[in-house]
Amino acid sequence: MFIAIDGIDGAGKTTLGKRLAEMLGANDVVLTKEPTDNSKWGQRLRKAAVEGRLPPDQELEYFRQDRQHHICNTISPALEKGKIVISDRYVDSTLAFQAQNPNEANKLFENLVGEILVPDVTFILLCPVEIGLDRVRKRDNDNLTQFEKVDVLNRAEKIYASRKGENYALIDASISVEETLGQAINVLKIKFSSNEIIKRAISRCDDVFANEARAIY
Ligand code: TYD
Repeated sequence: MFIAIDGIDGAGKTTLGKRLAEMLGANDVVLTKEPTDNSKWGQRLRKAAVEGRLPPDQELEYFRQDRQHHICNTISPALEKGKIVISDRYVDSTLAFQAQNPNEANKLFENLVGEILVPDVTFILLCPVEIGLDRVRKRDNDNLTQFEKVDVLNRAEKIYASRKGENYALIDASISVEETLGQAINVLKIKFSSNEIIKRAISRCDDVFANEARAIY
């Protein structure tokens, strides 16, 4: 099973990924992220996030190459072993940051969908830009990257909020980690209760699943 977590910087993707992995059991989960650390494209993109973004066409191409590398070397092999793969950022980051508006994002998705593995579910963590930036500033001592600019994030947040389809779960990530986790767990419980790993996790922590947090579909 393949889960992607996406949203603007500071929305809480990394924390949610870790909490879900803990809950589902470390042995059954591969937690991974994009841009990756181990491809030449991912490394270049991380450098660009600090030093200055690449020209748009090149940036898009690098994210695509990095994703292909990620799918071939990490995601597919783990899925073949029966693991649950959780990716911190995936194709929706490309839509949110490399497209200019929801319409362009839809067109870009149509171009990209043939070359990716589509996640079973993508959690989109929705969070007002001021709250996300505030969390990033506190976490990273005011060291904001080239992507963490108000106009860039406002555009990204609009695109994230526009994503829809049966493989998407849009979650309110503006309140607390527990609230976000509760919503994500409810989605897993509703959509994937026949998956053995999810079923085992549900029976291990019924108290957490009792959380009636709201999920927006
Ligand atoms: P980020 O998750 O912030 O890196 P870190 O783990 O170091 O915090 O990713 C860096 C930036 O890359 C992020 O602000 C969004 C951007 N990005 C895109 O523009 N397109 C993409 O396809 C991906 C995966 C990320």
